[in-house]
Amino acid sequence: MKKIVVLGSLNMDMVMTTERLPMIGETICSDQIHYMVGGKGSNQAVAVSRMGISTSLLGCVGNDAFGERIQKHLSRETLDISSLNIIEDTPTGIATVFKTKNNNAIVVNSGANDCCDRRIVEENIEIIKQADVLLAQLEIPIETVEYALQKAKEFGVTTILNPAPYKEIPIGLIEYVDYITPNDTEFESMMSGELGSSGDLETDMLEWSKQNSVKLIVTRSSQGSSYVENGQVTTIPCINVDVVDTTGAGDTFNGILAYAIAEKMELRDAVRIAGIGASLSIRALGAQSGMPSIKELKKYL
Ligand code: RIB
Repeated sequence: MKKIVVLGSLNMDMVMTTERLPMIGETICSDQIHYMVGGKGSNQAVAVSRMGISTSLLGCVGNDAFGERIQKHLSRETLDISSLNIIEDTPTGIATVFKTKNNNAIVVNSGANDCCDRRIVEENIEIIKQADVLLAQLEIPIETVEYALQKAKEFGVTTILNPAPYKEIPIGLIEYVDYITPNDTEFESMMSGELGSSGDLETDMLEWSKQNSVKLIVTRSSQGSSYVENGQVTTIPCINVDVVDTTGAGDTFNGILAYAIAEKMELRDAVRIAGIGASLSIRALGAQSGMPSIKELKKYL
């Protein structure tokens, strides 16, 4: 069986539903609050595991009530969390999610995620070595991500980097990446930092791909997702669903993409099923509730 290892953050998401986002200096009331398990690492690991593929999650939580609740919740998935680190005297990561009808804004306090250092990689080097794919994001220290990607490449493991939330990516790190999956805003930041954006997404994607031998896939919310292959940009539209909550759609995309890549699907098919999975995931509240199982996903293919 193929194996995927996800390295990343775990958060307790405090989801507050509001009519609209507050303006600077304004106080508004939220009508509902929900505590839901999130964090880009944890969300992506759940998305992968629902594809019925062997999945391990590496990351850190605090030794507190939220940390316990996250572990209890994740242990109900077919996901190996036995290598999670429990950090003493440090709070579990918290994300305050302001959710409006069609959108969201998130503020994260990293807490224990900041303790995810290279020791976590070293202690779990066998898991990384045996994986087919390593999937990472940037909600833990970037040095740890770079080290894990480097080790994965040394072992011949395929690597996927979801550069979210965006941080400037060291040139050396890119060398260890096989696939990079920014959303359109993150891609704009990648361009302005490096090459200077032309303002046209396709032109910029081609330009970036000329300079970097990494497969580029850009997720574009309701406009679907675009990827570069053989010097061409292809866009795959998303399917129409009734939107309840878009939180975690990008994570679902990345998790299913990792599964498809581990299964050696063509890039077009991989992007297509990842996009369908991401669309399905936004039909329920919270990052993980709407993530499809492989059975559900297959109904749409
Ligand atoms: O990508 C969505 C996630 O971003 C949320 O679950 C939140 O925890 C933040 O990490």
